[in-house]
Amino acid sequence: MGTAPKRDLVSIDDLSCAEIMELFRHADQFREDLRSWSDLCRGSIMATLFLEPSTRTRLSFESAMLRLGGGVVTAAEASSTSQAKGESLADTVRVVGGAYADILVVRHPCDGAARVAAQYASVPVINGGDGVHEHPTQTLCDLYTLWREKGELEGLDVVLCGDLRFSRTIHSFAYALARFGANIVTIPYPGFEMPKPVLERLDAEFGVSAVAASVGDLPGLAVGDNSAAYLTASRPHQLALFTRLTPHHVERIDAIYMTRAQRERHSGQSTEGYPRISTELMKADVMRDARIMHPLPRTDEIEYEVDSDPRSIYFRQAEFGVPVRMALMAYLLGAIEIEAESPEQFASSPGRRFGAGVGALCPNERCITNSEAVRYLPAEFRIRREDPPVLSCAYCGASRRAEWIGCVTSRRYHRWDSGDARKIKAENRVYFESEEQARVEGYSVGR
Ligand code: NCD
Repeated sequence: MGTAPKRDLVSIDDLSCAEIMELFRHADQFREDLRSWSDLCRGSIMATLFLEPSTRTRLSFESAMLRLGGGVVTAAEASSTSQAKGESLADTVRVVGGAYADILVVRHPCDGAARVAAQYASVPVINGGDGVHEHPTQTLCDLYTLWREKGELEGLDVVLCGDLRFSRTIHSFAYALARFGANIVTIPYPGFEMPKPVLERLDAEFGVSAVAASVGDLPGLAVGDNSAAYLTASRPHQLALFTRLTPHHVERIDAIYMTRAQRERHSGQSTEGYPRISTELMKADVMRDARIMHPLPRTDEIEYEVDSDPRSIYFRQAEFGVPVRMALMAYLLGAIEIEAESPEQFASSPGRRFGAGVGALCPNERCITNSEAVRYLPAEFRIRREDPPVLSCAYCGASRRAEWIGCVTSRRYHRWDSGDARKIKAENRVYFESEEQARVEGYSVGR
């Protein structure tokens, strides 16, 4: 095992496109005979710390580690761990990652929990789903399956459908599709649209803009008017040319990624009229090459009759969970080498402070930084955009506007769009949401 700094998978952005493609080549090899790799991680132990229900994710991780020759220890319910006694996630992972296990897979109900685990564990941490935030290994399985089916990812027209607000699988998948140059059509169940921070991040990081959709003839799938948005990946140099990208009419869909209504995360809203994939829809011309995808579990959003259609690939996504997760763990444990550049920044890289006083907590109440048990976590933000300043929580991505900018050397604050604010060097800037927050921090108004 190497001596390189540990790598975590908190967000799908923690792997570069080149690394992902290399992992897929390893997954191809593993798939040829899943049973012949039991020397690769012999002696390693994986701990699965799953504080939310799971079937496929946990079992495929465990199966993957056993097939690599390693061992598995597992805590599959919050009620069976010291979290039920009020222990913080940081304390739990500090102990489990190290003497107990060489790699941790964590599933947690709070957004941003995986970053906390990665920060405090001394061994690699893999996000097995954190609240409604991200589910990067599901995305690896989804991308791998789609790539195997279509032979490429760039330029594909992919429809994301259903509960786009609370489905963490959708968020990670959208970031990855944008990065690989696929086009994304969103067809949300009304009221369950893609969250603003996700759209903002797609825009800020990948040059992907949401514009009005032309859903063409997706019979029965578009629910209500204006329910769809069309997103197009652009190259960075095009950003100056386009503020809004031209929607194109979708003549042929490459894939529909369906998701269930995440009822356990809603407060009892009705899901009447939720979109459904039927055998009738599969007959539409626009669907002739479409692959039907779903992270599972399905409730009733795909008719059972659709299962036997060769275009349905959701059970394959689940099956490929084993070789894909074998490749990922072997990589993070240093058992296989990959010749590819890593991303410049990781999700667990330090962000910056946003004023420590009033209102400094993340605005997302589901964020782990707001959980009672983990008050030890300082708020930390990344600057998504400077003009006007938009900062996003380094844990869960929720964004907030900063109206005021202070200078750490002069202890004066100014409105973000003033000449004085613009003169403050980047490294000396501290952001405030309100003047009150700036004053609480000991700053006085600039003259
Ligand atoms: C997903 C999840 O947990 O987010 N399940 C999975 O891991 N395959 C999707 C879901 O629960 O709907």
